[in-house]
Amino acid sequence: MQELITPAQRIEGEVVIPGDKSISHRALMISAIAEGETHIENLCEGADVKSTIACLRNLGVQIIREGEHTVVDGAGLSGLQVPDHTLDVGNSGTTIRLLSGILAGQTFVSRITGDESIHRRPMSRIIMPLRKMGAEVTAAKGEFVPLTIEGGSLHSVSYALPLPSAQVKSCILLAGLYAPGNTEVIEPAVTRDHTELMLSKFGANVQRNGLTVSVEGDARLTARDVFVPGDISSAAFFIGAAMLAKDGGVLLKNVGINPTRRTLLSVLGEIGAELDIINVRTVENEMMADLFIKNSKLQGMTLGGDIVPQIIDEIPILSILATQADGVTEISGAGELRHKESDRLRSLKFNLDRMGAKVVETEDGLIIEGPTPLRAADIECFGDHRIAMAFAVAGLIADGETRIKGSECTDISHPDFFSTLRRLATVS
Ligand code: S3P
Repeated sequence: MQELITPAQRIEGEVVIPGDKSISHRALMISAIAEGETHIENLCEGADVKSTIACLRNLGVQIIREGEHTVVDGAGLSGLQVPDHTLDVGNSGTTIRLLSGILAGQTFVSRITGDESIHRRPMSRIIMPLRKMGAEVTAAKGEFVPLTIEGGSLHSVSYALPLPSAQVKSCILLAGLYAPGNTEVIEPAVTRDHTELMLSKFGANVQRNGLTVSVEGDARLTARDVFVPGDISSAAFFIGAAMLAKDGGVLLKNVGINPTRRTLLSVLGEIGAELDIINVRTVENEMMADLFIKNSKLQGMTLGGDIVPQIIDEIPILSILATQADGVTEISGAGELRHKESDRLRSLKFNLDRMGAKVVETEDGLIIEGPTPLRAADIECFGDHRIAMAFAVAGLIADGETRIKGSECTDISHPDFFSTLRRLATVS
């Protein structure tokens, strides 16, 4: 499939941001191993979350979806059933990494795999700690899917993560539920803490002390109702569109502003965003707000260090903004982007070149010089939803019609993305 994007002077309207993908995965997995019935509102509709649902159903968990309402009948910590076929996570890195932690605690053997992109993504980062905890894990060429996981009697560990990753941290914490004693993860830098919050909510004993997070094993999880806040990583594309448009303004409602995710808002402030954060509230234990954003005069900035893991999914749209900022934007310490749904540094460089931006790709980042007028171009998404959405926004300020090839990948996190963007854009 392809989508054609025509330039738009004005971006205006209101968007209720769909449920956060990261929180949706956790709500489903944790409720699946809790006792009782969990009701989830506003679950992300993306294909990745559907993959989590399919895997959990294959493990014998009953999940009923009725519109925006989802009911999970928890199987309890040890009530999952032997899957009747290989678990397939599709394109979802979060599903494979988190679910592997739960599978490591089961007394049966399971096999887990995914699509072509998952076949290229490194799994040694979860294999090593799970083996340390006592699980037997085998992988193709030592570190790729399919993984075979033989769990059982795990023991608790104290594990220092070699790289900041919420997926790896979560994998270990979930496995830790099955290990007597305290399982401890030491992060090199703060990453999103949705697993910790969701586990606490369901009754696990989770503690944080600086960069160390621990969970007490052999806990009982009890079903709780969950409201999933809007995904700030999806909101980021509409924020970008509103900042770049000459005119208009966009109100984004119900955006999750968890402190480990809202670093984006500080970065946007630093590059000059005209952004109002209103109606701040805490719903259960996650924070939410509405955001109003309009055309902004942008300046380049240096982005690196400990904040990078907190804005890792927003670097594609920040790179588009950088092409329109005064001066140089230097992004470093973002080598992890090479291991996402695509090699995002390469995908960004490839398409930014096509649009005539001034960009240098480094080993762990990008150097972008602005402002540069963008040329309309044919965009290759490399099967990566965030590349498709970032360049759709770029297309709104290009000098003609931009073609987003393989646009169906936006289904991964935001199936309504293009229709919403069209609604906001008044063609000039
Ligand atoms: C995620 C963590 C991040 C992020 C991904 C979602 C999560 O990945 O890029 O989109 O839900 O835990 P890493 O943990 O690999 O950095």
